Amino acid sequence: YFVNGNDIFKKARKEHYAVGAYNTNNLEWTRALLRGAEETRTPLLIQVSTGAAKYMGGYKLVKDLVEDSMDSMNISVPVILNLDHGDYDSAIECIKLGYSSVMFDGHALPTEENLAKTKEIIKLAHERGISVEAEIGKIGENQGAGELASVEDAKAFVAAGVDKLACGIGNIHGVYPEGWTGLNFDRLKEIAEAVPETPLVLHGGSGIPQDQIEKAISLGISKININTEFQLAFQAATRKYIEEGKDQDKSKKGYDPRKLLLPGTEAITASMKEMISWMGTPSID
Ligand code: G3H
Ligand code: ZN
Repeated sequence: YFVNGNDIFKKARKEHYAVGAYNTNNLEWTRALLRGAEETRTPLLIQVSTGAAKYMGGYKLVKDLVEDSMDSMNISVPVILNLDHGDYDSAIECIKLGYSSVMFDGHALPTEENLAKTKEIIKLAHERGISVEAEIGKIGENQGAGELASVEDAKAFVAAGVDKLACGIGNIHGVYPEGWTGLNFDRLKEIAEAVPETPLVLHGGSGIPQDQIEKAISLGISKININTEFQLAFQAATRKYIEEGKDQDKSKKGYDPRKLLLPGTEAITASMKEMISWMGTPSID
């Protein structure tokens, strides 16, 4: 079912475009993302965080859901199934389950330990043809700033065999705070020059202005992680539906979740298509 995406992201890095990496949160998200990929004929990286997997019922359920949805929707574009921000145990679990890609996020560990654990994950994953992403520096959280990744670390992790590298470059998960100073392009450029073939990952991809996304891609970003953007799109469309009183229309059964969740689901696909155009992802045929 799943490809590991190494060719897809290497090509993106070489040809200066990016491929989106989108988090799933439930059935509706999964279908909205698959639909967006199929309709744009672009490759899809669908990923799940440890929190979302717990919410949904576990990593196996997520894998089965994505696989079965691909079947029932006749998905014909390549799909990568990635563990997002995994700890050591969840990375091993997903490798054994047959995810085609895992991110081992050891940024909170001392660098030596992050590197050592990343190497262990790489060994297990590569034996099975699974792709590995690591994190260096620190992506900001909850509107708080992170920590810039160092060029030295980038070189060490690439030498260790990582397939993709997530770097702290002033990016922040969730909604960006007022007065955010923007991405650190100087550091991105230095890292990109030090590891000229490795696809670099921009986490916290939601809410970054289009010109900064484009500049980041031109410098070496090839995978952009997006979750919050689609949550906000889903929220706004659902709010509109309810504020218009459509959920209260008893004759049309507006309260039925199949109706109630539809505008939000469609908003995810629409928002995804806009991101794909920003990233310049070419269609596969
Ligand atoms: O790993 C997930 C992404 O980095 C999510 O970032 O909160 O900006 O959508 P976001
Ligand atoms: Zn992230």
